[in-house]
Amino acid sequence: MWNQKNRNNGIIFSVLLVLSGASAFVEELDDSFMQTRGADDIWLIEFYAPWCSFCKQLDPVWHQIGSELRSLGSPVNVGKADATSSTGLAKEFRVRGYPAIFMLKKDLRYNYVGPRTKDGIMDFTNRVSGPSVRSLSSLQLFQHALSRHDTLFVYIGATSLLKGNYTAAAEELIVHTYFFSATRDVLPKIISVPSLPAVVVFKDGTYFTYSEEHDGELRSWINRERFSNFAKIDSFTLYAMGETGKLVVLVLVEAEHQSEQSLRYKRLVENVAAGNSDKYKRSFYFGFMDEPDYIRGLTMSDVIVPSFIVVNLSNDGYFLPSVAVETEQQLLDFLNRVLDGSIQCQGGNGITQRVQRVVYETKAALSTVFVQAPLLGCLLIGLPSAIMAFVFYLCFKSRSSDSYDDDDADAALTVSSQRRKTRGDKKSD
Ligand SMILES: *[C@@H]1O[C@H](CO)[C@@H](O)[C@H](O)[C@H]1NC(C)=O
Ligand SMILES: *[C@@H]1O[C@H](CO)[C@@H](O)[C@H](O)[C@H]1NC(C)=O
Repeated sequence: MWNQKNRNNGIIFSVLLVLSGASAFVEELDDSFMQTRGADDIWLIEFYAPWCSFCKQLDPVWHQIGSELRSLGSPVNVGKADATSSTGLAKEFRVRGYPAIFMLKKDLRYNYVGPRTKDGIMDFTNRVSGPSVRSLSSLQLFQHALSRHDTLFVYIGATSLLKGNYTAAAEELIVHTYFFSATRDVLPKIISVPSLPAVVVFKDGTYFTYSEEHDGELRSWINRERFSNFAKIDSFTLYAMGETGKLVVLVLVEAEHQSEQSLRYKRLVENVAAGNSDKYKRSFYFGFMDEPDYIRGLTMSDVIVPSFIVVNLSNDGYFLPSVAVETEQQLLDFLNRVLDGSIQCQGGNGITQRVQRVVYETKAALSTVFVQAPLLGCLLIGLPSAIMAFVFYLCFKSRSSDSYDDDDADAALTVSSQRRKTRGDKKSD
């Protein structure tokens, strides 16, 4: 919610912007944009709607990004467009929710999904606006890149068909990760590459080479290998992992002050991930998660911390161990039973589950309202209930008198449109 403090900050910030002229760093775009922009220009664009409170929260961040990119001399232009009035532009970008953040680079469009923070968006901007494949011309540059990135893709060799495929994959997947290229003599001698050209991924303290024969299409291999073996996973990463079709093995832990048991469970999963990567790398990602909301929505129950869960994002299903898991062997047993189908998958995205999930989320939202504002909570529950009761009364009355006259029908109609209205009001809040 857009509270008073944020609003004050917003006002102060706007005053500062006007004083410093910084508002000029963000251009307001409209439907004429695609015709008037320079073909080689790079744009970072936010689509907003006037009523969207998340968009208002993003506003100061957006202006900071505009002014920072300008002061860094970046070639990236920053703009924003009201998607409700510039509908042609919004349609062109296939905007489905607000705020929507895109980078437009020549004819390529990149959608930013991630935390709407300055750091997150700046990182995306720097990565995507640069070359899709960055050349590493010295050993120092290679080592620097290696120290900065958890996973590092490097194409090694001269121009080739494989390089064409690598560049095409990089152009698409640069939204997620960095891509590099180097000649063989730049890399340390100790790194062995079976033959050139090659694509190598460095991660988890080791490296391996792409093989068309074993790994299939290069693009899908990159998409699968871009996550490290064991890492902290937020809901955005979880979603992206799910898109590759693999299951995700998670330890759920506290956000702060992780207990001794949580740390032990994390080590357990990390060891299993590292020690069995050949066996499991086609089936699982491993990691830990400290934001329980997503899992709570999935399982429709309170999240036990620490605990283990295996999630199938393809069908919103999940697996829980049937016996306590305290040792590596027990964890291995659990994972093998998930793979051979001897543990029942729970949840799922069938119609019953989806209805249950809506009910669960409504209940969770309402109970929050009750805690924070009991009176409003009573109104939200009480008003629809009263209207429902009234509708039942009308139905009952017409049934008992065995004549459904026009007056009653009209009344019922008015009531249902009122109900729709109350529901609509609640939603737009
Ligand atoms: C390279 O791209 C071509 C054309 O898209 C495709 O047929 C081929 O399978 C790709 N090769 C690899 C190794 O991904
Ligand atoms: C995960 O869900 C997909 C889609 O429904 C399904 O094909 C796959 O078998 C599931 N995986 C497991 C291990 O249950």
